[in-house]
Amino acid sequence: MSTDKSSHQFALPIKPTLGTCYYPEQWPREKWQEDAQQMAQLGLTWVRIAEFSWGVLEAKPGELKWQWLDDAIEVLGQAGLKVVLGTPSATPPRWMLDKWPDMLACDENGHARKFGSRRHYCFSHLGYREESVRMAQLMAKRYGNNPYIHAWQVDNEYGCHDTIYSYSEAAKQGFRTWLQQQFRDIDALNEAWGNVFWSMQYNSFEQIELPNATVTEANPAHYMAYRRFSSDQVCDFNLAQVQVIKAHSKAPVSHNFMGRITDFDHGAVAQDLDFVTWDSYPLGFLEDRVNATTDHQCQYERQGDPDFQAFHHDLYRGVGNGRWWVMEQQPGPVNWAPYNPAPLPGMVRLWSWEAIAHGAEAVCYFRWRQAPFAQEQMHSGLLRPDSSQAPCYEQVRQLAQEIEQFPVSKGKVDVALVFDYHAQWAWEIQPHAANTSYFDLVFDCYKALRKQGLSVDIVPPSSLQLQTCCDQYELIWAPGLMHMHSLLKQTLSQAKGHVVWGPRSAAKTQQMAIPVPLPPNVDALPVTVLSCESLRPDRPIALDNGGYVVNYREILSINGSLGDVIEHSEDGEPVLVQCGKQLYLSAWLDQSAWQRVVKNVCAMANITTQKMPEGVRRRNTQTHSFWFNYDNKPHQVDAHTIEPGGVLIQ
Ligand code: GAL
Repeated sequence: MSTDKSSHQFALPIKPTLGTCYYPEQWPREKWQEDAQQMAQLGLTWVRIAEFSWGVLEAKPGELKWQWLDDAIEVLGQAGLKVVLGTPSATPPRWMLDKWPDMLACDENGHARKFGSRRHYCFSHLGYREESVRMAQLMAKRYGNNPYIHAWQVDNEYGCHDTIYSYSEAAKQGFRTWLQQQFRDIDALNEAWGNVFWSMQYNSFEQIELPNATVTEANPAHYMAYRRFSSDQVCDFNLAQVQVIKAHSKAPVSHNFMGRITDFDHGAVAQDLDFVTWDSYPLGFLEDRVNATTDHQCQYERQGDPDFQAFHHDLYRGVGNGRWWVMEQQPGPVNWAPYNPAPLPGMVRLWSWEAIAHGAEAVCYFRWRQAPFAQEQMHSGLLRPDSSQAPCYEQVRQLAQEIEQFPVSKGKVDVALVFDYHAQWAWEIQPHAANTSYFDLVFDCYKALRKQGLSVDIVPPSSLQLQTCCDQYELIWAPGLMHMHSLLKQTLSQAKGHVVWGPRSAAKTQQMAIPVPLPPNVDALPVTVLSCESLRPDRPIALDNGGYVVNYREILSINGSLGDVIEHSEDGEPVLVQCGKQLYLSAWLDQSAWQRVVKNVCAMANITTQKMPEGVRRRNTQTHSFWFNYDNKPHQVDAHTIEPGGVLIQ
């Protein structure tokens, strides 16, 4: 029995640990003990439970059944495992709908999203919010001091199954109240949104609808307000549970974020958490979320994209206080992507090592045993439904032994790359083309940095508003920040290192209007964006030095003689303009041009680059270099051969 809570303190170097997701309510009691002992023998430290268990805990309103959970925690804890206890608000039981018939979220057509799967609630429904707090409080009171509970998870995967935006009556009422708090006066809202356009003025906040089902597009300011409101609803929902847990427990509280889900501001939610986690499904993502060509999907079908997981490791390390885990990692084929191949031997270990190299305190596998029933019966686990060991099992055993004596030091980072959830929403609202996505723009830049062997911190704009944070980096890359706070403009302008702005930097006001003076309107940058255009995928524009402008570009005027144009398009437009350590990139580049520009800018900033072999990536910490081979062929690095799925630690 362990009562040591100090093991949760964030301390470097990190001693990484492993875990799994377990559903005692889905298995006969006789199995619990055997499962718990086997987990411990395998070398697992953590077991996450209960996040979908409301239907068992409270099968009828007010009739609470705790004994099974008391026993399950006891069995797991006695086996030496540390329990992460989930609050079950992602799966309200059926009776909840009888009590609150209007608690369901509604889709854009106003249709309620029915019971029969999960996440069937609207974040704005205050009745359901109270129910979820009631349940979290009951759990916190009962288990807050339980010595086996070492961490909490609130809910499960906010945003999964497209559940942030709701067009319900509750959301409409919530939106009106939110707008009233933001603007106070309806004329102020009309003015800020530019409602004189198309006679869209309102006389009162009660007249404002959610921005769905309009004849043509709604006002971009209206969309943006709705997105900010929706994100704030997630924060409020989360915080309400965090507060009641913290009132009764000292164990740290977390939530599991997802891959490429950007519908709420993760930084804002993370402010209320002690650590963040995310759920990593590399093969599912390659098919479903990486905007990849078919060739790329074929080449990496059993390995996953070489950059997508690392991008999220770096993103989620940056959104909160730096403490993060992988809460769910794919152990074999998943069930939900368009195609679901099995991973190449070694990949489960590689993905886990990569997370650890990027600073994960723990990596947990979803799930312990494959369920033979219901929606996820085709999803693998560490064990098959008959409890025999799945192919990944031995990899996890090996890894558990490898990490035992392996403290991981802080990253040795070359470059900061900015990611801003609000910019993501702005690009979604005004993409200016069918093929532009802010996420892809930032991800393209990240890939180029990694292909040059660089280790990256992904940082939110709010941290860079601190000059001390800015000044830590030799190079800051800030593409696509559509709206920029004046403080951010100021700190970036005065950064000690090199800064690359653009494209589309400060292109909009906070209310999604074009600013005058025209953007970027930064003294340190001798450029003005006169206009912009988007490009068809089959009409890229060549650059003088090779490679292409793709998707989107701006037409610049250069003010005075201060700027040197170091990249031109063949039709004579400036693409990269330098003024001392400040650079403005006016276009989206293809990978070959991105990599050249990265290399050249790194040379200016005295950062050493090293071109990575195809599919090989590196992460540097203060003490080690970790190399990962995602390719389906062996590669040589520093006189070592790394096999496909191999990891080299130096
Ligand atoms: C995650 C989710 C899990 C499980 C898993 C399947 O998104 O949190 O509960 O559904 O996907 O891959």
